[in-house]
Amino acid sequence: MPILVFDSGIGGLGVVAQLRALAPGVALTYLADNGFFPYGEKPDDILLARILDVVGRAIAHLRPQALVVACNTASTIALPALREAFSLPIIGCVPPIKPAAAASTSKTIGVLATAATVRRPYLSNLIARFAPACTVLSLGTPSLAELAERKFRGASVDVAPAIAPLFTQPGGEAIDAIALGCTHYSFLLPEFAALYPGISWFDPALPVARQTLSRLTPLPPLAETGQTAYFISETLPLPLLAPYGFNRAETCQW
Ligand code: DGL
Repeated sequence: MPILVFDSGIGGLGVVAQLRALAPGVALTYLADNGFFPYGEKPDDILLARILDVVGRAIAHLRPQALVVACNTASTIALPALREAFSLPIIGCVPPIKPAAAASTSKTIGVLATAATVRRPYLSNLIARFAPACTVLSLGTPSLAELAERKFRGASVDVAPAIAPLFTQPGGEAIDAIALGCTHYSFLLPEFAALYPGISWFDPALPVARQTLSRLTPLPPLAETGQTAYFISETLPLPLLAPYGFNRAETCQW
């Protein structure tokens, strides 16, 4: 019974990398609903029904011992419904507002996320709870997740036009800490940091991995086979997935 890590594309592989680093012996299965990418641009009701359907079929087929929703867009809309529908431990992804607020000396922080995550009450509740003393400026961008997908496949990407509006909005020049509210953005951190070297960046991948492992005792052992990454549509070439510990890549037949 592996841990199932789920995202709309490659974003959750950042969480996988942290899980592998913290617990090299752990059995992981990956599921990318890339047939419906990008989640961040889809209406809430359609997305919720889709996530319940795709995850439900995966749970029935794979019988994982835990589910990691390694996608902020999915977590902010579907966690309560998933927890109600399925009885296994479910770990979600939260934009790291709390550490960003704690690290900020200007008390102006940024949140970079998908359009869907930025407009959800889930985010405003987090901000009210964990950053009440901060000005929080958000940017919901349609293009960064796509750029992360392209970079993963080997392209060189320019993130500057997509991220600039975060800093050009009123008060944006004071931002000194940024919470990444989309797991795809972990893959663009080198580009972000090169463009804005004075900023502290907060990536949720490591906290999500730690939280996952804290929920599981004992850990599922690594299987020689079955370290499989499943894709709803286009299956990524195995050489791109091998660094994340996968030895099979398949298109879902279920
Ligand atoms: N990885 C997803 C997230 O964390 C978003 C990508 C998408 O729009 O599908 O929000």
